[in-house]
Amino acid sequence: MSDMDSHNFPGASPLPVSENPPQADAIRGAASVRSGGHIIGEVIEIAGSSSKVVMDTAILAGLLDHHDTTVRMAGQVGSQVKIRVGPAWLLANIRTQRRYEGQSGLVVAEIDFLGEGDEEQLTGQIYNFRRGVTRYPTPAAVVYAVTTADLKQVYASDGRANVEVGTVYPTNDIRGALYVDAMLGKHFALLGSTGTGKSTAAALILHKICDLAPEGHILMIDPHGEYGSAFKQNGKVFDVNNLNLPYWLMNFREHCEVFVQSKGDAKQMDCDILAKCLLAAKAKSQASAGVAKLTVDSPVPYLLSDLTTILQNEMGKLDKATNSAPYQRLKSKIDEIKADPRYSFMFSGMLVGDTMAAFLTKIFRLPSEGKPISIIDVSAMPSEITPTVVSVLSRLVFDYAIWARNEPQRPMLLVCEEAHRYIPNDDVAEESSVRDILSRIAKEGRKYGVSLGLITQRPSDLAEGVLSQCGTILSMRLNNDRDQAFVKAAMPEGARGFLDSIPALRNREVICCGEGVAIPIRVSLDTLVEERRPASEDPIFSDLWRQHGGEEEIIQRVIKRWRAQGR
Ligand SMILES: Nc1ncnc2c1ncn2[C@@H]1O[C@H](COP(=O)(O)OP(=O)(O)OP(=O)(O)O)[C@@H](O)[C@H]1O
Ligand SMILES: [Mg+2]
Repeated sequence: MSDMDSHNFPGASPLPVSENPPQADAIRGAASVRSGGHIIGEVIEIAGSSSKVVMDTAILAGLLDHHDTTVRMAGQVGSQVKIRVGPAWLLANIRTQRRYEGQSGLVVAEIDFLGEGDEEQLTGQIYNFRRGVTRYPTPAAVVYAVTTADLKQVYASDGRANVEVGTVYPTNDIRGALYVDAMLGKHFALLGSTGTGKSTAAALILHKICDLAPEGHILMIDPHGEYGSAFKQNGKVFDVNNLNLPYWLMNFREHCEVFVQSKGDAKQMDCDILAKCLLAAKAKSQASAGVAKLTVDSPVPYLLSDLTTILQNEMGKLDKATNSAPYQRLKSKIDEIKADPRYSFMFSGMLVGDTMAAFLTKIFRLPSEGKPISIIDVSAMPSEITPTVVSVLSRLVFDYAIWARNEPQRPMLLVCEEAHRYIPNDDVAEESSVRDILSRIAKEGRKYGVSLGLITQRPSDLAEGVLSQCGTILSMRLNNDRDQAFVKAAMPEGARGFLDSIPALRNREVICCGEGVAIPIRVSLDTLVEERRPASEDPIFSDLWRQHGGEEEIIQRVIKRWRAQGR
């Protein structure tokens, strides 16, 4: 005897595709004759995260030419099924499928419950869908195919602010939306191998959010200078020519990263000397006059020349036996940076004035003046200083939020492209100030109204735990096994059924799961109009390699910009 017999399951014979099959009546009992759509199987095991249903392959095959695309997909891994529990419908996602031992024509599928909804009396559809399950079904409960009409109800916004970003797979008319507050409230990560469309997806989402809420405050770290062209209308671009980031906004640790070159014991000694002299230089500055508790971390203007003079004087006070090398090292590094035009966006003599208010105003878009996004194009900065620049900016966002707690709230979103560069794990890089501040924002930012958006093609290189701090995960295709494993670990349970499709997604397709969506969805993203796309087009070799002309001028212009280090 097979298990099936004892469950009174209709067996391997295809069920007639009717609204109210007689077998269903047998299962539910004649007293509750209600429509529910197509019966495809029944529950055989309820055990939290490893509940199982058994489905009839002949019935599934019979649905393959159904007019409703969602019904056609019934039973597939990653698709949904519904199960009736009393007056409610439970929605579950199919995670795996395997052959049913003991009876051919049946498959066992592991399912993850997504949530529940009420049953509309007339149509039998799901409505009023919500996450979480209050009552589980019992084994032998009947499993139904989900219809497009059901999904429309499930995806229908529950009234919360949302942005539509694409079309839910496999339908061509259900819109996939992200709940803005839930997504930003608990951070999000956008992942995908190179060329899958991450940057364009990021631009699409941010554009939609800005259209919805034009008085936002978004800071975007743009390592490749791609986003300026996407946000011409609603963004302000800051690069080496106009960022004017005052060096004195660095805290002590960031100062050390820039000015201290030595390693090991010598590093500690240099840092100690720098701390003493930096505090003295800050104390000397007029701006510190009203500051009650001046520390090496206080963001007050000071003169670099004061700092080097103090270093020089301290060196002069040494008795012969003591080593003057650390002073010399620090002084020459500071002089070198001051003289290097590549660093002038941060260390120019023009930046000594107290411009903190003006700087915060322009970078945080307070007020946004129709341009809620600041794009910090770090592509032309010397690569050794970009991590520190990103650290300073991220820390300013966080510190501002902390010190503005008693003020009217202005939540901010910090978007970090190529996040694996700035929050790498221990195997990839040693500790740095940028990693610490971004990890801290990932952990605590929510409480202060600071949201983090991480974009990366290498989730496995991200510092441990950062991905799981992201409440919403948007995953595009990932080719690498290790990356897939990391994303799997960070995804909420209900989304596991989608995991197998991650390596098989097409470009522009994204799996969205977590806080930002009602249930995990696979979305085919909308085409973004050209003027809103980042400048990251794939070169068309076959076409471009047929063109020539003007090379001499091109080379001259390139060399000019190269030498001038400006665009
Ligand atoms: N939604 C979209 N609408 C229009 N074009 C798109 C869309 N998504 C991707 N593209 C096109 O696909 C190409 C690659 O996209 P994109 O630069 O966003 O990929 P990426 O994942 O950011 O790549 P990388 O990891 O190299 O930065 C671009 O030419 C882009 O114009
Ligand atoms: Mg990109």
